[in-house]
Amino acid sequence: MSRRGEASGGDLSRVGKGGRPALLAANWKMNPTTAAEAAELARGILDSAREHAAAVETAIFPPFPWLVAVAGMIKGAPVGLGAQDSYWERAGAFTGEVSAAMLQGWCQWLIAGHSERRAYFGETDEMVSRKAAAGLAVGLQVIVCVGEPEGTFAAGRTADYVSRQVRRGLDGCTSEDARSLVVAYEPIWAIGTGRSADPEHACETMRLVRSVVTEVLGDEAASLARVLYGGSVNAQNVASYVELPPCDGCLVGGASLKPDEFSAMIQVVAEVYKTA
Ligand code: PGA
Repeated sequence: MSRRGEASGGDLSRVGKGGRPALLAANWKMNPTTAAEAAELARGILDSAREHAAAVETAIFPPFPWLVAVAGMIKGAPVGLGAQDSYWERAGAFTGEVSAAMLQGWCQWLIAGHSERRAYFGETDEMVSRKAAAGLAVGLQVIVCVGEPEGTFAAGRTADYVSRQVRRGLDGCTSEDARSLVVAYEPIWAIGTGRSADPEHACETMRLVRSVVTEVLGDEAASLARVLYGGSVNAQNVASYVELPPCDGCLVGGASLKPDEFSAMIQVVAEVYKTA
């Protein structure tokens, strides 16, 4: 039996994914270092994003200072723009912070609770839920990131850990937010390591994520929310995740900094969706 068959247990039709559009999200992290390079990086994926727009939604997440330059570069193209983080208050004495309200007009998207923010900047589930709720409240689509550390995975405690993160992270969300909500399952040990998760583990955990989203938002609303996989996804392995029934796309770090590779990934995802 193929890996696709084993992991999916059968039918992979678009209908089986509830008609939710595939999403390929590019998290540039703290790259590149100049506005010109950022604009160039965005330019490099436009052809592929345009060509496959009917099958794949593409969104890019540059660092804050490059949002304006990148917005200019992608103007009129079917590419969403998002921020990698934001603060939940609208305005005030919060030195160094950028509010979700300030992103309106530039961005359609926001990432909340990326594991690097949790690990290096002390973000808790409570902060993640406030950030997600603030983004949703100003009309942004929000990707809430969850994922277990290596030791938790090795101890077989992924399910408990990830369920708790999803439940707490969506604490401020309502069923009305579902259409704008994405949960990205990114095992920490797979991020930036080249050690992507086994599709079966990813599949099982994404199913769990969907079941917790359903518990929190209710059946009907939850069917609108998308679930992504992230962690060392590249042009070679992206199909093995996107083919999984509970997977609505991928959150991509390192490979999104290579325009040719990210363009190829858009194409691969489009092919999976067209042939499913
Ligand atoms: P990676 O990063 O693709 O480089 O593993 C993914 C992420 O951090 O979102």
